[in-house]
Amino acid sequence: MESLNIGIIGAGLMGREIAAAAARGFVLDGFPIKLNVIAASDIDADRLNWFGKVPGVKFLTRDYRELLKIGEVDAVYAAVPHHLHREVYADCLAAGKDLLAEKPFGMDLHAAKALRAMADESGLFVRCSSEFPFYPGPQHAFRFIRSGALGNILEVKAGFLHSSDLDPMKAINWKRQAATCGEIGVMGDLGMHVTHLPLRLGWKPVSVYAQLQKVYSQRPDGRGGMAECDTWDNAMLHTNVSADGNRFPMTLEMKRIAPGETNTWYFHAVGTKGGVRYSTKEPKTLWTFSGAEGQAWQRQDLGFRSCFPTITGAIFEPGFPDSLLQMLAAFAWERSGRSDGLFACATPEEALASHELFAAALVSHRNGSVVALPVDAEARQPSRVKAG
Ligand SMILES: NC(=O)c1ccc[n+]([C@@H]2O[C@H](COP(=O)([O-])OP(=O)(O)OC[C@H]3O[C@@H](n4cnc5c(N)ncnc54)[C@H](O)[C@@H]3O)[C@@H](O)[C@H]2O)c1
Repeated sequence: MESLNIGIIGAGLMGREIAAAAARGFVLDGFPIKLNVIAASDIDADRLNWFGKVPGVKFLTRDYRELLKIGEVDAVYAAVPHHLHREVYADCLAAGKDLLAEKPFGMDLHAAKALRAMADESGLFVRCSSEFPFYPGPQHAFRFIRSGALGNILEVKAGFLHSSDLDPMKAINWKRQAATCGEIGVMGDLGMHVTHLPLRLGWKPVSVYAQLQKVYSQRPDGRGGMAECDTWDNAMLHTNVSADGNRFPMTLEMKRIAPGETNTWYFHAVGTKGGVRYSTKEPKTLWTFSGAEGQAWQRQDLGFRSCFPTITGAIFEPGFPDSLLQMLAAFAWERSGRSDGLFACATPEEALASHELFAAALVSHRNGSVVALPVDAEARQPSRVKAG
């Protein structure tokens, strides 16, 4: 059996989730690659020590550069605050490690451009984390749309919503400050999840009109005082897409303050012949529409028909940890040279395309105008186009 030895940099929320997903790798039915997390790094000793209980972990270090010296590590999964992406990812590539990099792949467009260039030059296998399209529903939606079942696309709506920041007394952390999260705020936090599937379908926005909201300007600093929150909490991006000789509106929604929502990822596309709808609120359900069968949406319970088969029964429901395992499997699969048309992890090019959209959204909101893409990363002076 082949194996993929993984080193994890950043032992926080996502470092732990990926370690847990990889540790369940043996449930992948007939999968030819064994997923081994063998090393972890974090500057925080308590977080790092948690990895002592992860099966197979042999190396723990507070200096990630030491992890990069471990010859046995084939690939790194890096999940650190956004302002560290550029340096940490560049060091991974310089050390010759393949990389599953957390989104948004650099804190801003400038960093994303540099990282994409470094990834290309390195010849290493580099992908960006985005797991929601690995639920069975989005996988089926992707194939349904690719089959041409929608006809000419009329409109697309996609989004990712949660309410983690609804409580104004939740203490500040790095995700709420521009210096560490990036000026793009919620777009960097949630945006790649929303853009991955549309971009893979070839739906790259040509213009954007953005509405951005800062809901709370201060939060408790955890030391008895208050700290400034200077990132965007919510974003609505009204885009135009030009694809397959067709032009259509695509609305992308990213919200950290969405009452009633806990990690709701949704996707909705309709065309002249058909439509498709999916939301993680109903994780096993796919809605499809076929004009040929009258004006009716059909609900199909997909169950656990995942991209990579597992021991889990087909009638069960998929969840967040399953989507992470599927994404890891896709990373290992594609890295090993296998490519057979499966939906794959987001590429550096797709991460860069999402950053181009977010940079244009900042300009759009600032000027109250529709902004044509791409924008210039340095000057951030994109050409304006008229609304409508
Ligand atoms: N794919 C997803 O669903 C998802 C969800 C949440 C976050 N993320 C992304 O994951 C990344 C991390 O987010 P998180 O929620 O895990 O954050 P987190 O704050 O929980 O964890 C980040 C960890 O990085 C560590 N760290 C900081 N500097 C370091 C250094 N120099 N070396 C090693 N470790 C260092 C911190 O101590 C912390 O433990 C971000 O890019 C974020 O956007 C992805």
